[in-house]
Amino acid sequence: MLQINPQIEKYIIDHTSDEDPVLAELNRRTHLDTVHPQMLAGKMQGRFLEFISRMISPENILEIGTFTGYSAICLSKGLRQHGHLYTIEKNDEMISFAAGFFKKTGLTDRITQLSGDARKIIPSLNCMFDLVFIDAEKSEYCDYYNLVIEKVRPGGWIITDNVLWGEKILESTAQTDNSTRGIVEFNELVYNDDRVENLILSIRDGVMLIRKK
Ligand SMILES: C[S@@+](CC[C@H](N)C(=O)[O-])C[C@H]1O[C@@H](n2cnc3c(N)ncnc32)[C@H](O)[C@@H]1O
Repeated sequence: MLQINPQIEKYIIDHTSDEDPVLAELNRRTHLDTVHPQMLAGKMQGRFLEFISRMISPENILEIGTFTGYSAICLSKGLRQHGHLYTIEKNDEMISFAAGFFKKTGLTDRITQLSGDARKIIPSLNCMFDLVFIDAEKSEYCDYYNLVIEKVRPGGWIITDNVLWGEKILESTAQTDNSTRGIVEFNELVYNDDRVENLILSIRDGVMLIRKK
């Protein structure tokens, strides 16, 4: 995460609308029951994803990296009537964990969970997306982007998490690990892609907004 004055961070959290009861329970259970609870979007980023989704009012959303389902629930709040969210996860334990919470929110018929490696699943998806959220393995970001870009409708959006990767993107390339290299290559790939325009926001761990022309 990016360093931010802790008092400012607390102020932001305290002055952002509270999670609904299901999201609050999901947040709590993720911290109690999983090894890497910090992967969860959380209250501030969850609201951000929800609001962006509500602004776009998408018909189809694709999420790459479900984890416990927090961001999927937030994104699905903006779906238009009869809209649908597809979310891909390769960890079976997380798939059943998330399924229980999708049921609690009454979203079961609006969310399809896809089990397996996103790099194998994306090519089999037979629909166009208005909004894609990339939040899985950092070293694979370029693969997801290259596979999904032709499935984003013109004027559609991709949101990508962790693009500043705790500021490690500033390290010299010789010292970096696979995840950092993956993020750096992804940021370059998108910046140099004439099919899109992009914006990096320094919220949380860095969020990139990509608009397909
Ligand atoms: C950062 S977490 C997602 C967090 C979630 N979007 C949220 O905000 O609540 C990343 C998830 O991606 C999954 N993942 C990693 N590589 C994947 C792949 N190639 N295909 C599908 N899922 C993958 C991991 O198992 C993990 O649960």
